[in-house]
Amino acid sequence: MDQETEMLAPDAAGYARAAALLAQGELVAFPTETVYGLGGDARNDHAVASIFAAKGRPHFNPLIVHLPSLDEAEKIAVFDTQARELAARFWPGPLTLVLPLRPEAGISHLVSAGLETVAIRLPAHPVARALLAAFGGPVAAPSANPSGKISPTSAAHVAEGLSGRIAAVLDGGACGVGLESTILSLAPTLLLRPGGLPAEEIEAVLGHSLETGGNAAKPNAPGQLTSHYAPGASVRLEAMAPAPDEVWIGFGPDSAGSDLNLSESGDLVEAAANLFAHLRRADRIATERGATGIAVAPIPERELGRAINDRLRRAAAPRG
Ligand code: TXA
Ligand code: MG
Repeated sequence: MDQETEMLAPDAAGYARAAALLAQGELVAFPTETVYGLGGDARNDHAVASIFAAKGRPHFNPLIVHLPSLDEAEKIAVFDTQARELAARFWPGPLTLVLPLRPEAGISHLVSAGLETVAIRLPAHPVARALLAAFGGPVAAPSANPSGKISPTSAAHVAEGLSGRIAAVLDGGACGVGLESTILSLAPTLLLRPGGLPAEEIEAVLGHSLETGGNAAKPNAPGQLTSHYAPGASVRLEAMAPAPDEVWIGFGPDSAGSDLNLSESGDLVEAAANLFAHLRRADRIATERGATGIAVAPIPERELGRAINDRLRRAAAPRG
């Protein structure tokens, strides 16, 4: 613990304090509609390096730049017609676009990991938007969790993992979407990470189906640590029933008797919003009971189910 982490309320004083801390190169965690982000000034090399240090991230994989408006985004990346069309349709919202970087924008090379592209998004959460407006600059932000741990969907989750390592947390309650943003690269068009915006919605705008890129074998692609999102207990997928030493996370009405249910009615949007909090809760129940594993019911591979299954497969991957 080298610093006291301030808890800031989402009011004028809280935004002013958070913006002042960012301007000083300090780190501030803030809510977005997907998960909480760990924000730092994207133009400040030292601030960006501190993000990696606070998370204990072993690699300098590139970060997403968060902006308040399309005008600001166009100062940092080059938009073609298709990028503008997607931005008009889905921003603000849980979509990240990977676009050519404008070198003169002054974004730290650590943010783009030396690539000629940059990942950007306009978050929809009102607290994120108020913070970005108050700060008035680009904010680099990965999910606000220690590297390899479950992404935070509440200020309490952030504090659990990063208290004492960052300047402040802006408390904006629980995140509505609960899964990180969908990442789309546009040259060529490739779905780099399934996320909070269902790929089907992007395909409807593009008029063709999306190819998927990025996997554990390609470390320059997003979120590639296979043992990402890992709870302490081991995770078994597609479980129709739990073993005696397992905590069972169910899905839908067929999971009667489960310890937790991602959505009793089988709603994928509700399941996404509950996913990370339920994994944390299941981990705690496992510890209390001396159980060794978490069993998760099958989730359909469509819409947000694709992103949920992606995160679950990472949680279940052998630990390295
Ligand atoms: O919902 C979200 O996206 C959250 C909130 C805080 O906005 N952020 C988030 O950031 O999930 P992070 O750092 O956990 O994931 C960002 C991913 C990384 O896996 C990285 O590889 C990819 O974005 N990425 C960033 N820049 C890229 C680039 N130029 N080309 C390809 N992938 C890139
Ligand atoms: Mg992350």
